[in-house]
Amino acid sequence: MPLHPFRYIHLLSVLFLFTVHINIYADEPDSAYIFAYGENGLRFAWSIDKENWHPIGNGHPFVKSDFGRWGSQKRMYDPVLYRAGNGLWHCLWTLNDDVGVIAHTTSGNLTYWKPQSYPYLFEGQGNCRMIEIGYDPDKDGYFISWVNTKGQDKELFGTFTKDFKHFEPARKIPEAARINQRDVMILNGESQTGTTHQIAWTEIDHLIKTWQIAEYRNGLHNELMRDDPVRFAGLKPVEVTVTVDPSKSKPISNMLIGIFFEDINYAADGGLYAELIRNRDFEFSGADHREWNARSAWTLNGEHIGFHIETSGPVHENNKHYAVLDIRKPGTGLINEGFDGIPLKKGDKYDFSVFIRGLEGRGQSLLVRLTGKNGEVYGVSTIKNISQSWKKHFAVITANETVNDARLEIIPQAEGKIALDMVSLFPQKTFRGRKNGLRADLAQTLADMHPRFVRFPGGCVAHGDGMDNIYRWKNTIGPLESRKPDRNLWGYHQTMGLGYYEYFLFCEDIGAEPLPVLAAGVPCQNSGTGGHGQQCGIPLDEMQDYIQEIFDLIEWANGDPKKNKWAKMRADAGHPEPFGLKYIGIGNEDLISDVFEERFVMICRAIKEKYPEMMIVGTAGPFYEGSDYTEGWRVATETGIQMIDEHYYVPPGWFIHNQDYYDRYDRSKPRVYLGEYAAHVPGRHNNIETALTEALHLANIERNGDIVALTSYAPLLAKEKHTQWSPDLIYFNNTEVKPTVGYHVQKLYGQNPGDEYLTSLVKVSDGNSGVCKRIACSVVRDSKTGDIIIKLLNLLPVEAKAMLNIDDLNVENTAVKTVLTGKPDDRRAEPVSAQVTFSGEMELSAYSFTVLRMKVKND
Ligand code: AHR
Repeated sequence: MPLHPFRYIHLLSVLFLFTVHINIYADEPDSAYIFAYGENGLRFAWSIDKENWHPIGNGHPFVKSDFGRWGSQKRMYDPVLYRAGNGLWHCLWTLNDDVGVIAHTTSGNLTYWKPQSYPYLFEGQGNCRMIEIGYDPDKDGYFISWVNTKGQDKELFGTFTKDFKHFEPARKIPEAARINQRDVMILNGESQTGTTHQIAWTEIDHLIKTWQIAEYRNGLHNELMRDDPVRFAGLKPVEVTVTVDPSKSKPISNMLIGIFFEDINYAADGGLYAELIRNRDFEFSGADHREWNARSAWTLNGEHIGFHIETSGPVHENNKHYAVLDIRKPGTGLINEGFDGIPLKKGDKYDFSVFIRGLEGRGQSLLVRLTGKNGEVYGVSTIKNISQSWKKHFAVITANETVNDARLEIIPQAEGKIALDMVSLFPQKTFRGRKNGLRADLAQTLADMHPRFVRFPGGCVAHGDGMDNIYRWKNTIGPLESRKPDRNLWGYHQTMGLGYYEYFLFCEDIGAEPLPVLAAGVPCQNSGTGGHGQQCGIPLDEMQDYIQEIFDLIEWANGDPKKNKWAKMRADAGHPEPFGLKYIGIGNEDLISDVFEERFVMICRAIKEKYPEMMIVGTAGPFYEGSDYTEGWRVATETGIQMIDEHYYVPPGWFIHNQDYYDRYDRSKPRVYLGEYAAHVPGRHNNIETALTEALHLANIERNGDIVALTSYAPLLAKEKHTQWSPDLIYFNNTEVKPTVGYHVQKLYGQNPGDEYLTSLVKVSDGNSGVCKRIACSVVRDSKTGDIIIKLLNLLPVEAKAMLNIDDLNVENTAVKTVLTGKPDDRRAEPVSAQVTFSGEMELSAYSFTVLRMKVKND
């Protein structure tokens, strides 16, 4: 039987493998073998003789599957590694037993792997197990074969590709066409299947060193302040000298502190949005949450009344469901318990509104009451003049008690049938008294941070869980009944009552720039709704419409109401003046795949051409390194956009050991928006430890304020008992706001910004680098006030005696000194401020963040 070409090539390579030659001039071989294997991660072992194998990093995964949804879809079975003639490594693997989709990625060095793709090899009933790959010299491309294990008999299939994007139709192949390129090795006493390759020793060395560096870095990043007394046992108070040199200064961003608002953890409905009625629109559904439906949050308080949901002839087609009450004997009411009860304040007024349509019977009126569980009545009003067509009715109810757990009762006063929708109750005391406004205490807590911008509406909410869940700004403006509610991917419902108009108004109210983020034509990669876990995107022939939607947003925000219909809508809503939109985010930590890149580039080019003044913010994945980070930066740089959004949630040690992270950034590339970050200690809430390391990071960012333009901690808000993500910056319930220690750090930076960075030299008496890294200083000047602001950090378990040489700053000898301090595990601590006379010497207590604000002398 003639040898199949792939077998021949395989045989050649096997023969070659026996010719390992050892470098006789050094103690390392020129080449050796690697064995690539692993389940749920591509792992390597190396060997000189193919007998004794050494798993690198004890089975450290060098690439993991990024397919489909979080959890069970991100699988890797039977990876096969292949080196092409041009030296590029290809790795392919099986994703599951169900469908004919495989995973493919490439690498030049076995450690940096390009974004993965998941081509369909096999339509219909079949799967792709035991994938093999070989080069076909005749066709100058790759032959891929696999076993379909789905049918009764195992069948062999093959296809051909030149580029791993386009594949010939799968066809059945004979057994002889298989290369049988897998070997079985015993590693640590266990049998593993994989592929063996001879490679240069330097390449193996690179693998080993990459793992060692990863281990070393993980060790550093996982250092905890709680261990400090051990690590720094015997450490005496240190002496610190800070010498500020104002002659060495540079302009920095005066917008460094902003906020990132996403509707996660009930941040919007039930949170910042002051609406008190839950499921006001009867639009809750099983898609929002598997236990919910249109009647959720509503009950009846008696008999002789029917309550059901209808959809024909709704108030608005975007709001299809409404309630129908069939009153057989008056007296029974429909009850809403709000979001964990309705909080009321004695003497405060509440705006009630509802759409009603009389269906049967005449002379209907409604008693609207705020009541307690034991029949207490906290406020009453009446709705009359119900018509046969939908009409919005209003009433004002004054609360006669302060309670946390009131309910709203709607009690029809006559027999008959009525339809209700958009049942709403707002405190009149919203933030800045706005109608359809924001909860005053929460909004004020945000305003107190002095954020210079607000990024919204996400996060993952912006790009959505699948194509139909991409956040579309047009669905969120206009009359409330016309807005299009949607499922929130964090597992609940978005009324869109807090929509683009409200976001922009809030920004204006607090003097912050709006930074809306729009999907880059692709939903969240982890939604996997493109079919069998694939990343999907808006079809290319619909992208022009999508781009027009973005143009319409810019016009809605900035346009002339006389010239543009979207600008007119803004004016009609009550804001004839432009909002002055300057920033627009495209994408949110997306997978930088071909699907993404094609759409992202289309959008950015179009905006740049039509609105060259618009500051476009791109995206660089969810980590501070890796393929989405690298490719995101590449795409953003090539596209010539001005800014890029980085995200990283990392342990406190990362901030301590990466203080030079932005010092090395190329100043000729786009500027950075650090859009999401936080110090995370697994299983713990944020505390002094996380807050101080975030403060340290911000000090380093101020030094790099020429390249880092904006930052925002994430996530911002979390309602107690409704939290999907932890930790968060500000916790709250219906009546209390509970800022974390991290909030105080953000606020101190937000209230003490500068626009000029002054170089300072910090000397620590103890030369140990672990000690030195825990002392930091940032000095800025605020040109508006002329004030000098010095921020000092002591992350050591001992006091630091600081001597500040600031004679050249020409400042008064008094300062406002604010100190935030505590034990690493403390979850509560308040900054303490005092006016102090400043002599140059000061004590920085253990684990402290100090802000000194000084006036310049008026000579
Ligand atoms: O901040 C919470 C989530 O973290 C955001 O929605 C997303 O962008 C990131 O993964």
